[in-house]
Formats: sequence, structure tokens, C-alpha cells
Amino acid sequence: MRELKILIVVVSLTLLTYYGVEPYAHSVMHPHVEPADYEFKDCKTLPKGNAENGGKLVAENCIACHGVKAGGIPAPMDNATASMSYGVVPPDLSSSGYLYNEAFLAAFIANPAKATHTEHKFVDGSTSHPMPGYDWLGEEAIADMVAYLKSIPVSLTNKEAFEEACIRCHSMKYAKTTSLTDDVSISAYMGKLPPDLSMMFKSRGEHFVHNLINDPQKLLPGTSMPRVGLTQTAEKQVVTYMESISDPKKEERNDLGPKVLVYMVIFTFFAYLWKRRVWGKY
Ligand code: HEC
Ligand code: HEC
Repeated sequence: MRELKILIVVVSLTLLTYYGVEPYAHSVMHPHVEPADYEFKDCKTLPKGNAENGGKLVAENCIACHGVKAGGIPAPMDNATASMSYGVVPPDLSSSGYLYNEAFLAAFIANPAKATHTEHKFVDGSTSHPMPGYDWLGEEAIADMVAYLKSIPVSLTNKEAFEEACIRCHSMKYAKTTSLTDDVSISAYMGKLPPDLSMMFKSRGEHFVHNLINDPQKLLPGTSMPRVGLTQTAEKQVVTYMESISDPKKEERNDLGPKVLVYMVIFTFFAYLWKRRVWGKY
């Protein structure tokens, strides 16, 4: 009887511990979030625009703040001046058509705070998004600008995709990459210093990083990090790069795996021969 009681206590404690470690902790550390939406369903898809006219509109409306290197337009000011003027360095637009989802891009140009899910930062009216919205230009004009940005041919390495999309705010020390915006300006704009991303892949995990980039509000409600609107392809490049920096030994490990297996097989074979030799006589 005594043994039975002990057994019951041990089993219950084990089950309780298991529940604490697995399902419960898991649900706390990885709360369920809606899957990433790479179609940006909340943004309206506009009919295809006229790229040529879009190029003119971009030259009229956007290059006071943005460079478009691919179109021969350099950044209008150096990073220090841009940081002080806008709180963050406005990105060069050459790769925007590649990086960002088309519907998102149109919604962003029309109303940046709304598209990035950061309207909550500007409700008291004391500040507004540093980029003005262009909804007053009308959908056709916006569709034309999107068509122009999409028409710029781009091919980016994973590192470049990361740099174009993230380092106006974030640094990546392990890759010797420093944010384009100085710490003081970006902290004032964001309300806090965006964290260094070197180890984020490892500390937060792949699942979290994918969902966070797709829509930060889902995981950090009220955060000031904007939804940047990356297409699934560009986002994958960014995350792959983050993984390569936070886990630089991964390839080496993967490489070593098969060698260890081959070694084990050979070892087992010799162990078997040895066993037969020693025990075979009996
Ligand atoms: C007054 C300056 C200003 C003007 C004019 C301006 N922008 Fe911007 N833009 C910014 C700033 C600042 C950011 C970065 C905002 C941030 O990261 O929070 C930005 C960001 C962007 C981005 C990146 C979006 C993302 O998801 O990361 C795109 C694309 C863009 N602008 C396109 C345009 C286009 C197209 C025009 C012209 C129709 C334009 N901008 C006009 C200041 C400006
Ligand atoms: C306009 C500035 C801005 C841009 C652009 C930006 N971020 Fe952030 N990011 C922030 C800020 C601010 C925080 C801090 C958020 C908080 O703690 O609420 C942050 C936080 C993060 C975090 C940490 C989240 C956590 O759990 O603490 C990760 C990971 C991250 N960003 C990844 C990225 C990646 C990847 C990109 C590029 C695709 C990117 N960010 C682009 C401003 C930005």
C-alpha cells in the first residue's frame, strides 16, 4: 500500500512538472499568433499603373528626402543631417519595389502610419509620421509610383536585403554593421533604441522572428517598430542572413554530421569483428 502511495505521488509530481515545462511554458513563451500574412490583405491592391509617369511623380514628390541611386538620384543629404531632420535616415528607394509587397507599398505611400500599424504613436497629435501621406494625389498616381518602383531591376544578396530593410534603425554588431541613424535620433523617434540584431535569431527563435517582421504588433502590441511590408521572398532573405550571423557555426555542424555517422559505421564494423574474435571461441 505504502509503495502504491509513493508511486502515485511520484507520478503526479512528474506529470505536473512535465505540464509546467512543456505545454504550459510553451504556451507562455510561444503564444499563438495568427500566421504571417504575406499578401497584406488589409492593404488594397491597386490596378497596374504607368511606370513612366510614376518615375516623374517620384522625382516631383519624393526626392527631397529619398535618393533613388538606380535612377541616378543621390541621397539629398548626408545621414547625420537626415537623422536630425526626420529621426531616421529615409531609405534609398531603388530596392523598395523589390523588397515591399505591392499592395503594402501603395498603402504606405498613401498613409505611412496606417500601413505600418503605428498610428497609435501619433494619436495625441504632438508628432506625426516623418513621411507625409500622399493619398491626396489619388490612387492612379500612387499606382504609377508603385509601378515605377517595381520596374527598377534589382537583385540583392541576403546581406543587402537585410541592410536595405533594417539598418536605418538597427545595428548588427557581429557583422560590423552600424545603424545609419545615430542612437540619439533614432531613440527620440522610436521612444527607445532599437536592439542590436546580431543574436536575435538565436534568442527569439525562427518562428518569432518571421512573425515579428511580418507584423510587430502581433507579438509586441503597442510597439513602435513599424510593419515594414517585406514580401515573403525578401523576408526569407533577411531571416536567412540573421541566422547566418547569430549561428555562424551551423554549416560547420551540418558538415560534421555525416562524417561522424561514417565514423560510427566503421567503428561498429570493427567492434563487431573484434567481438567475434574474442567471443567466437566459446
Ligand atoms: C519629408 C520626407 C519624405 C518624403 C517627401 C518622402 N518620404 Fe518616404 N520616408 C521618409 C522617412 C523618414 C522614411 C522612414 C520612416 C520610418 O522608417 O519610420 C520613409 C520611408 C519610405 C519607404 C520605406 C517603407 C518601408 O516599409 O520601410 C518607402 C518605400 C518610401 N518612404 C517611399 C516614398 C515615396 C514613394 C515618396 C514620394 C511619394 C516618399 N517616400 C516621400 C521620408 C520621406
Ligand atoms: C523604423 C525603425 C525600424 C525598422 C525599419 C526596423 N525595426 Fe526592428 N525594431 C525597432 C524598434 C524601435 C524595436 C524595439 C521594439 C520594442 O521593444 O517595442 C525593434 C525591435 C526589433 C526586434 C526585437 C523584438 C523583441 O522581441 O524585442 C527584432 C527581432 C527586430 N526589430 C527586427 C527587425 C528586422 C529584421 C527589421 C528589418 C526587416 C527591422 N526590425 C526593421 C525599429 C525598427
